[in-house]
Amino acid sequence: MSEFIATDLSSYYSLYEQSVRDPSKFWGDFAEKEFTWIKPWDNVLNCDLSKPEIRWFEGAKLNIVENCIDRHLQENAEKTAIIFEPNDPNESAQNISYAELSKNVNKTANMIRSLGAKKGDRVCLYMPMVPELAYAVLACAKIGAIHSVVFAGFSAKSLSDRINDAECKYVITADGGYRGSKVTPLKSITDEALQSCSCVSKVIVLKRTNTEVDMVLNRDVWWHDLYDNQPLECDAEVMDAEDELFILYTSGSTGQPKGMVHTCGGYMVYANYSFRSVFQYESNDVYWCTADIGWITGHSYIIYGPLSAGATTVMFEGVPSYPDMGRFWQVVEKHKVNILYTAPTAIRALAQCDISHVTNSDLSSLKTLGTVGEPINLEAWEWYDEQIGKGKCPIVDTWWQTETGGIMISPLAGITKTIPTFATLPLPGIQPCLMDQDGNEITEDDAEGRLCIKAPWPSMARTIYGNHQRFKGTYYSAFPSKYFTGDGAKRDANGNYRITGRVDDVVIVSGHNLGTAEIENVIDEHEAVTESAVVGYPHPIKGNSIYAFVTLKDDSKHLDSATLETEITSLVSKTLGPISKPEKIQFCDGLPKTRSGKIMRRILRKVASNEIDNFGDISTLLNPECVESIVVNRK
Ligand code: PRX
Repeated sequence: MSEFIATDLSSYYSLYEQSVRDPSKFWGDFAEKEFTWIKPWDNVLNCDLSKPEIRWFEGAKLNIVENCIDRHLQENAEKTAIIFEPNDPNESAQNISYAELSKNVNKTANMIRSLGAKKGDRVCLYMPMVPELAYAVLACAKIGAIHSVVFAGFSAKSLSDRINDAECKYVITADGGYRGSKVTPLKSITDEALQSCSCVSKVIVLKRTNTEVDMVLNRDVWWHDLYDNQPLECDAEVMDAEDELFILYTSGSTGQPKGMVHTCGGYMVYANYSFRSVFQYESNDVYWCTADIGWITGHSYIIYGPLSAGATTVMFEGVPSYPDMGRFWQVVEKHKVNILYTAPTAIRALAQCDISHVTNSDLSSLKTLGTVGEPINLEAWEWYDEQIGKGKCPIVDTWWQTETGGIMISPLAGITKTIPTFATLPLPGIQPCLMDQDGNEITEDDAEGRLCIKAPWPSMARTIYGNHQRFKGTYYSAFPSKYFTGDGAKRDANGNYRITGRVDDVVIVSGHNLGTAEIENVIDEHEAVTESAVVGYPHPIKGNSIYAFVTLKDDSKHLDSATLETEITSLVSKTLGPISKPEKIQFCDGLPKTRSGKIMRRILRKVASNEIDNFGDISTLLNPECVESIVVNRK
């Protein structure tokens, strides 16, 4: 263990104190000792949050892949880097050593370079959870191309929006992707998306499902045709610490998704630091994060964090319910997983099933459990603790965001006292604070407010791709010179944080961030619709579900509402992907509005949650009379 990683509570407090007293020294010392740099930095930190202009390790040169792979080859070439567990349990798992990973990444990097890709070019990866996705991510990083991974559950429209926003020149996809018993036709979705993407010149297609595909002449090439004869060696591009490493899209409170930009040096340092600190990874542990690489959790805690730490990381192609609801536990037994990191929505779904799904597998290898993505309710926490951890495994409830790049507030496994539903304490280097409505910091404990971070940390997003003004407006304007997270939180008398949920127009459904405005825009495109308001309401498994209140044009009010519901639902599903589908649609005569014409979502949220006894003062509404009929007709 490194002297910078806490090993007990007193070292945590001491490291925390050092990191706050002198952040540049703390991160500079850690970065110098623990990574391979081609050239050291001139400044550890150069930051002005009012702009915001954020630079970590300015002037340093590195390649993150040298740190994730090459430097492990001397002593750990034969150690397993990635365990690939396929969707179908009858297909063999693969153990990919660091030496093999190195060769495969080099070949992939040479393959992408052979198309003309170079430093700074954007490459969109729209792929299933197969090892080639990991190779492609690392290959882009090795040649300095900026990867933009788009989750393979997204629709053609979401894909084309993301490709166009980043002006990707290259797309890597597959013929199809397995998800349980279904096959997603990734290539045909890509073809549809690319009809509106003139920026793309080449598409590489991996064969995975043997789904029939159309190959477009001069644009599309098969992965295997290009890959097989590539050289096993590949020079790493020399990157500045502040060069862009990747773009990853997250939903915002306006329709357009935000391309969060992360850079090489700071992201690497903090992904590594947080992985080792939170999970207390030891060198022979098998670690499994069940996320998809299409989300930030997969970037930081399947790929960059674990590999930079020389860990063994499991990559799972399938879903928890296939071939049956015991699959997670079968995988834990099969690969003797020591650390399991998953999402509350999966825990809730699995806790509904017959307990024999759990007890049929030997879970004795587990020593640490983690959760991420949304608040975990007490019942799910206790089930995870008792049934999976058998009361012996600490649960790290990790709070963080696409924007933060790494885990910010979390217990350190076996060190911090866990409290169900609390993310507990900030990691060294992280300075959270609570703000009141008037923009003042709440300094006392036992308080509730809006969660901000008041000092820079290495893996913070640097901008929104192509829109720094929006970046500033979204994150650095509500509370000047502080990063505003969009979440509310409580702090107890001992400084432990409990995240209460979003305070903006983002709803988290099954751990996926959905922007309500984006869904409303799609619903409003239906020819019968005048306008819509989308809110979240609590759902026992998904955490939240989508409820849409919709007003219809006069000449459409007579139409059959069941048919309209089906049409609207499939429009949303087709445009944004099935995860964005409204669970309930209510047609209304009017939506409650303020006098300035803003829809009062606060009231609609209450109706959707069936909390109809107290709306507060609605007399200031433009049209208070519509509330009663909305309440009466609620679903
Ligand atoms: O509301 C918080 C919730 O997920 C949001 C971030 O979503 P995303 O950028 O997709 O990243 C998810 C994976 C890091 C946060 O603003 N969230 C995430 N983790 C937790 C959480 N809410 C409560 N507890 C958590 N542990």
